Parts: sequence; C-alpha cells; structure tokens
Amino acid sequence: MSDSVYLIRISSQKGGVGKTTVAVNLSALLSIMGYKVLLYDTDFSNPSVGFHLGLEDVNIGMQSVIYRRTKLQNATVVHEPSGMHVVPCELNAKSLLTNAEHYQLFKNDIIKAGYDFVIADTPPGQFDSELTGFYDEAVILTTPDLPALQSVLKLAARYDKANLKHSLIINRVKHKNYEIPMRDISGIYGKKPDGMFPESELVPISIAKHIPAVMLNSKDPFSKAANTLSEKYVYKTENPASEGRMPKRSLFRALLKLLFG
Ligand SMILES: Nc1ncnc2c1ncn2[C@@H]1O[C@H](COP(=O)(O)OP(=O)(O)OP(=O)(O)O)[C@@H](O)[C@H]1O
Ligand SMILES: [Mg+2]
Repeated sequence: MSDSVYLIRISSQKGGVGKTTVAVNLSALLSIMGYKVLLYDTDFSNPSVGFHLGLEDVNIGMQSVIYRRTKLQNATVVHEPSGMHVVPCELNAKSLLTNAEHYQLFKNDIIKAGYDFVIADTPPGQFDSELTGFYDEAVILTTPDLPALQSVLKLAARYDKANLKHSLIINRVKHKNYEIPMRDISGIYGKKPDGMFPESELVPISIAKHIPAVMLNSKDPFSKAANTLSEKYVYKTENPASEGRMPKRSLFRALLKLLFG
C-alpha cells in the first residue's frame, strides 16, 4: 500500500440504511488484514459506532477532537478484537457547528498518525464543511427500494458538485421481486454498485453482542460481502489506475486470509 492515507466517508441521504453497520465491518476487516485503520463517528446527534462496538461510555470523543479540546490520540480507543482504532462520539456533548478549518486540522492529525484507511461514519444527509478536499471517496449506502434510491441521486449530485468521487453500495438485499433489480439501480446511478450486502440476521445479532458481524461469523453471506468490499479497497488503493476493478483471484486470496490468518 502507498504511504498515504485513504479517507472514506460512509453516507446516505436516507437514515437507517446500514451506514454504521458497513462502516464498522469494513473497518474491522481492513484492520484484521493488517492495515492501520481509524474509524470515527461524525453523527453527533445520534452516535452509534460506540454501541456497535461496546465503546459507548467515552468521556472524550470525536466532539473533543474536532473542536480541538483534546488531541486525537487522547480520544482514540483500540478495539482489541480487531485492532482497529476508534473515535466514538461523546453521548452528552453539545453539538456545535464545525467548519472546514476544523476538518483540515483533524486531517493533519490523521496524516501524522500514519493510518492506511480512515473511515467516517456519518449522519444521514450531507455536511458541507467537510466535503471539499477532505475525503478520497464517499460511499453512498442505499437499500433496493425507490424512496432510498431517489435520495441517492440527490447525494450523488452534491458529491459531484464538491468534486468528490463516490461509489454506491446496496444493503439489505433480499432478492425479492419487489426490489429494484441491480441493472435498474446501475442505470439510475449511472454505474455499477461497488458492493451488495444481503439481509442477514447476523447483523442485529452482532449489534446486540457489540461484536462486528464479520468477527462473529465469517461464513455468513453478509461477512463474505464485507470481505469482498474490503479486498476491493485494498486493491483500489494499491492499484489506483484500476478504478476499483479487480481480478477474481484477489477475492479468493482475501477469503483464505480471513479464514486461516
Ligand atoms: N444487511 C443487514 N441485514 C439485516 N439488518 C440490517 C442490515 N444492515 C443494517 N441492518 C439493521 O438496520 C438497522 C440500521 O442499521 P445502521 O444503524 O447501520 O443504519 P444507519 O444508516 O447507520 O442508521 P442512521 O441513519 O440512524 O445512522 C440496524 O438495526 C441493523 O440491525
Ligand atoms: Mg448510523
């Protein structure tokens, strides 16, 4: 991997489509694969990264970092089972406004800390102050239904305007005939989705247990989809000219690595 950090914003216009779930599992997998990963929560109103990982009791969190009340290291918690670094939100902190300067200073700290991947879990909708020039890529999460999909286009337009590269992930796919088919989704969005996660009971179980789904059952179809996505990011960052298209062999290698270390 190159020595520069890759910053990913996990986002959606519509709430509750699986942003935190995907952010937590992608971060955990990349960390297990040996990359230095930071996952942080920007959802100051309804923070949930801490709940997913059993790290909700933090006194110093993302609000303190972004408002420069403390250093990044002081708010970073190591998630021992995966090794990833996490900055959850403080549950009771007042939500102040942030601006581009706050994010630029935060980015300087991230770069100094030497992370390979930094993944932001975000609230539904967009947050202008951190859009331009901060992230390398925004992931747009959606479910395969019309209300969620039409909101994808709004968010994609915002990202285009901010000159931010974006990709699409479909979550909670049940393969029912009332769902919008993948080829129609590709047509609406303008390119193929980068990932597709199935509906899986493993997800609510893993949230209740505060353990990332991929660590609870690596053979579940949700975990396999998460593995495919994480390997895609590894490939994408190692081969920037590939635009994320990877040979099938890499997927197989990733699976072996996950199963046998
Ligand atoms: N693939 C899945 N299969 C089954 N349940 C899922 C799946 N993905 C997410 N869920 C469920 O959907 C709910 C919302 O997920 P999550 O909190 O990740 O969404 P979100 O987009 O972060 O929500 P918010 O907009 O409130 O931040 C959770 O209760 C989770 O269990
Ligand atoms: Mg969330």
